[in-house]
This record gives sequence, structure tokens and C-alpha cells, in this order.
Amino acid sequence: MTTVLVLNGPNLGRLGSREPDVYGDQDLDALRALLEAEAPQGITIDVRQTDDEATLMGWLFEAVDTTTPVILNPAAFTHYSYALRDAAAMVTKAGIPLVEVHISNPHAREEFRHTSVISGVATGVIAGFGLDSYALALSAIVRSRAAATRADR
Ligand code: DQA
Repeated sequence: MTTVLVLNGPNLGRLGSREPDVYGDQDLDALRALLEAEAPQGITIDVRQTDDEATLMGWLFEAVDTTTPVILNPAAFTHYSYALRDAAAMVTKAGIPLVEVHISNPHAREEFRHTSVISGVATGVIAGFGLDSYALALSAIVRSRAAATRADR
């Protein structure tokens, strides 16, 4: 049984009511249900959210210690948290996939959102597809695991 950690940063606990014109009207429970429906058999989805940078970093350390793939929406931390970047780098440098996701397309929004300090250490980035960004990230993780398993044979 493999777990995928789905980590969400600040303000994403307000999904569903926060700026629905930008983020849609579905909440984190809907995200959990979507990913559970998309996950192949044997994959467990662990969706978490925090407004606290240290907690988010602790979850990334946990991913390193347990070799758990990560889908990360760093939210506003995307744009300025070097601490989170360094923690994310520990994940990918350990050979564990970490996909950065965004519900909106930050590049189509205010200038300060055009910079991600996380992208340079992420395995890949998916943005702009609403909650489907997470489903696409899950698919990318599952496909890369399948490819790695085939290469091992
Ligand atoms: C976001 C985009 C960020 O710019 C913003 O601060 C968020 C959400 C997104 O999912 O589109 O909180 O990461």
C-alpha cells in the first residue's frame, strides 16, 4: 500500500468559500473525494492543510523519512518561502517525486504570483485546472512509479 501526501498551505482550508470566482466552490472534502475516486487500487490519499509554515515543513520531512510521494500546493508560500523550498528540495533530492500544484494559473494573475521559489526544486508543476490540477498530479506520480517499476524489472 503506497500513500500519496497531498499537502495544502495557507488559506486553502477556506476552499469552497474563498474567492469562488478564482478557486471554485468545492472544498477540501471534495478534493479528498475526487482523489480517492481517481487513485488506483493500493494507493492511499492523505490530504492535509495548514496555515503554518513549520507544520508544512514537518510534513515534508515526514515524506523524506517515509519515502512518500508528495502533491504540494504551497499557496502563498509559493512566492516567498525559501524555508519551504529547502524542505521541498530534501524530498526531490531523496529521489521522491514532489509535484507542485495550483488551482488557479498564477501566471495569469498578479505579478507577485508569477514567481515560484518552489518550482526549481519540484519534480514538475501543474497549474490552472482547478481541483483537476491535483488529479493530474496524482496521475503523473502513478505513471512515474509504474515506469520506475518497469525499469527495475
Ligand atoms: C494558489 C495560488 C497562490 O498564488 C495563492 O496564494 C493561493 C492558491 C492556487 O492554488 O491557485 O493561495 O496556490
